[in-house]
Parts: sequence; C-alpha cells; structure tokens
Amino acid sequence: MWMTLVTVVPQGCTPCRHRCDHGHGLGRPANRDLHGPSDVEAYIRHLESSDRDAWQRPDEVVAALKLYPDAWVADVGSGPGYFTRRLARAVPEGVVFAVDVEPRQLDRLNEHLGNEGLRNVVPVLAPPEDPRLPPRLFDVILVVNTYHHFPQRVRYLERLRSALRPAGRLVVIDYHKRDLPVGPPPDHKIDREVVIQEARQAGLTLTDAPDFLPYQYFLVFRPVAPQ
Ligand SMILES: C[S@@+](CC[C@H](N)C(=O)[O-])C[C@H]1O[C@@H](n2cnc3c(N)ncnc32)[C@H](O)[C@@H]1O
Repeated sequence: MWMTLVTVVPQGCTPCRHRCDHGHGLGRPANRDLHGPSDVEAYIRHLESSDRDAWQRPDEVVAALKLYPDAWVADVGSGPGYFTRRLARAVPEGVVFAVDVEPRQLDRLNEHLGNEGLRNVVPVLAPPEDPRLPPRLFDVILVVNTYHHFPQRVRYLERLRSALRPAGRLVVIDYHKRDLPVGPPPDHKIDREVVIQEARQAGLTLTDAPDFLPYQYFLVFRPVAPQ
C-alpha cells in the first residue's frame, strides 16, 4: 500500500555520531566498534533481544500511548523496528513512519515488515539533523533511546514539533542518567530535566510522565499553543 520513502543520507552515517562503543540496547558490550557491518548486526541483535522485553515493557509502552486505530505515528530512531512493528499493529488503519539514519537498520526493518505482513509502515532514511517528516501530520512521535544522538537537539525538537498535529504528542523515552544494568554509560545519557528544558525551548510542554519503566523516563509533550 505504501511506497518506501527514501531520502538522501549525508556523509556516511553511523549508528552513533559520538562513536560510542556501547550497544545502547542491553548491557554494554566492551570495545565494540559499531561502524562495520558485523557490528551493526550485533547492535541490531541487542536492540531485538527478547531479554529486553522484561524492562522495556514494549506492549505497556504502546498501550500507554492510547493510539486510535487510524492514528499517524512516527518512530524516530526506529532501529530495526522493535517499537515500529508494535505501533503498526496498534494502528491498523493508520500509518507509522520509521525514521533512522542507518540504512542497515531500515533493511532489517523491511525484512521484518515483509515477514510479518505489515503494510502500514513508511521507512525514512534521514540525515542526522532532520527527521524529514511532513509538517502537521502526526498524532504521536515516539523517540526511544535515541535522544542523545540528535545534533542540535533544540533545533531537532523544533522539527519534530512542526511535524505534529496541533493536538499531537511527542514522547521521549530514555535512560535515567545514572548507573544502570542496561543502556549506555551515564556520561552519554541526557538527564530528564534537560530534556524537559530543551523541549520547552522548542515550544513543547510536558503533559504527562508515566513512571512504570524501571530504568527510563517516559515524557509526553504537547506543542505550546501559539499566542
Ligand atoms: C539505541 S537505538 C534505538 C532504536 C529503537 N528506538 C529501539 O528502541 O529499539 C538508536 C537508533 O537511532 C538511530 N539514530 C542515530 N542517530 C539518529 C538521528 N540523528 N536521527 C534518527 N535516528 C538516529 C540509530 O541508527 C539507531 O537505530
């Protein structure tokens, strides 16, 4: 039903602009360079590990979004689609845009979509600084464990805000900035209060913060109405 939308990728993009050697998903594989094909494979395996479900609680996260069946959703930093595919099932009459900078993540997502018969997902290969989402289209934009990758975060949030419908929501889920058994080391994490402050600068206000995830904050923002 949906054509794959592919945009131009600049300067050989990488899974992590900061050249992190952590896996971002489960635990911290030591000294992994994530920039070769086999390393991206390992990264994808971490993101997709079933061990993750116990603390990531993906079905509860999607349920908490309270999506209408015809909602338009974007999953920014989708990876191979751990959340994208659940979102696609939650909006059978809607659409999910899956945005990522890494083509191999989207290749894996495409394989899953074919295997699972999901036809309401639009993969978007985007440059790091711009999610390339159409304006005023989305009911929900979800960003999981990806916030620290964005360059010029306030600018990036402004772009996300402009892609939201007036009553749309931006949801940021990321690791608390402390030592945890999962996720990147603390110095790679962004403190919850910093996200809230940057969102405010981008014209977004915090409206909800479910607290059922053991290691991550879950922040729901809405656009501030123009004065
Ligand atoms: C830790 S993974 C999270 C994947 C997915 N959200 C999940 O929870 O399984 C971060 C993802 O963000 C992507 N990414 C990194 N920088 C990005 C950017 N500037 N814009 C969009 N995606 C980005 C990476 O390629 C990777 O797939």
